[in-house]
Amino acid sequence: MENNQITIFLNKLAAIVSRGELVKLVIAKQRNPSSELKSMIISIVEIKAGKRLNFIYRYKTKDITKNLATEEALPVIRKSLEEEFLNAELFATGETVQLTTVGRGKVKIKTTKAMLKQPEAFVHDHVKERLIATEQNVYLRELGILNAGFELRREMSDKYHQINRYIELLSPAIRELELPDGFHVADMGSGKGYLTFALYDFLTSKLNKSPVMTGVESREDMVKLSNEVAIKAGFTNLSFTLGTISEVQLEKIDILIALHACDTATDDAIFRGISAGASLIVCAPCCHKQVRKEFRVASEMKAIMKHGILEERQAEIITDGLRAMLMESRGYRTTIMEFVSTEHTPKNLLIIGRKAKTTPAAKQKILENIRKIKELFGIGHHHLEELLNK
Ligand SMILES: C[S@@+](CC[C@H](N)C(=O)[O-])C[C@H]1O[C@@H](n2cnc3c(N)ncnc32)[C@H](O)[C@@H]1O
Repeated sequence: MENNQITIFLNKLAAIVSRGELVKLVIAKQRNPSSELKSMIISIVEIKAGKRLNFIYRYKTKDITKNLATEEALPVIRKSLEEEFLNAELFATGETVQLTTVGRGKVKIKTTKAMLKQPEAFVHDHVKERLIATEQNVYLRELGILNAGFELRREMSDKYHQINRYIELLSPAIRELELPDGFHVADMGSGKGYLTFALYDFLTSKLNKSPVMTGVESREDMVKLSNEVAIKAGFTNLSFTLGTISEVQLEKIDILIALHACDTATDDAIFRGISAGASLIVCAPCCHKQVRKEFRVASEMKAIMKHGILEERQAEIITDGLRAMLMESRGYRTTIMEFVSTEHTPKNLLIIGRKAKTTPAAKQKILENIRKIKELFGIGHHHLEELLNK
C-alpha cells in the first residue's frame, strides 16, 4: 500500500521530468537522525549526453553531486524514500507535490499550487546580461557553476544569481571609494571563494582597479582549492591564506568582507575592519547564537518572546542592529539591506559600513542608546562591543 503511494509519486515525477517541468525535488528528514546524509536535492541538468537528473547529496560538511538518466534515477529515489528519508517535496512549474511519511510508516501525498518558478538566472538559450559574465569565465567553471562549455549549470543558477546580486549591491559603495593602486581587500571566511573571485573579477575587469586581495579561511582544503582556481583564472593578486579571522596576520585592510561567517566570527571580522581603519566593511551575518542566549526580556515582551521563532528573529534583529550601531559609534555610516531572498538562503542581510567622520558627542549618544537597548532585552554583553572595549 505505502509502496503504492511512493510509486504514484515516482510516476508523477517521471511525467514532470519528461515534460521538462521539474524545478527541483528535495528529499529530507532522515529516518535515522544521526545519518551523515542530511538531504538530497534533485534537478534537471543538460549535459553533452542529454538531459539528466542532477543529484546533490548534502552531507553535514560537504556536497556530492551525480548525474543520472531518469530511468537510473527513479530506483535511487525510491530507495531513498523507502529506507533513508521520510519526506519529499517536488516543485514543478505547474504544481507542488508533497510526500510525507507519518506515524507507523503511513505515506501521504498532497498536491498544491506551484510554489517555485524556474530559477531566475536559468534560461535555456539566453542568460540575462549580468555584472559577472559567464563567457570564458574560468573560475565559474572551476567552481562548478558553469559546465565545461561555459554554460550555466541549471542546478547552480541560484548561486550564480546570488553572486550577481552581491556585486550589484556592493557596486555603489565601492564606486564611491577613492582607492589607491594596490589597495588591500580581505575576505574573511572565504569558503570555496565564489564571492571572493567574483569581487576580484568585478574590481579588475569592470572597474579597472588593481587590488591585492586575500581570502582568509580556516579550512585547509578550501584554501588549497581556491588557490588552485586563482592560478587557473590568472588572478595574480588574489590568494587564499589558512588562518582564523581574529588571528591572521594581514598587512593592511582597506575593504573588509565577511560573508556568512558563523555567529561571533562576524563580530571578529567587523572588529578587524574597524581596528585596521578599513574604508568599507561588508558583512552578511550567519547564525546569531551569542545574543540569543543572553536574551532576558522584560515582562511585557514575554508574551511575544514565548514563541521561539519570534524570539529567534528578534535576537537576529537586535544582534545585527547593535552591530550596525557599534560600527556607527566608531564613525561608520551603515546601511542594512536584503542580500538575496529567503528562497535562496535564510542568511539574507547585508550590513555595509562606510568610514565617515564622527564626533565624541555623537559617539556618546550612540553608546547610550546601545546601553538602553541592551537593558530592554536583558543583554549582558554583545561580542563586538566586548572586543571594541578591550
Ligand atoms: C558559510 S561559509 C561562507 C563562505 C563564503 N564567505 C560565502 O559566503 O559563500 C563560512 C566559511 O567561514 C569559515 N570560517 C568560519 N569561522 C572562521 C574563522 N573564525 N576564521 C576563518 N574562517 C572561518 C568556514 O570554514 C566556512 O568556510
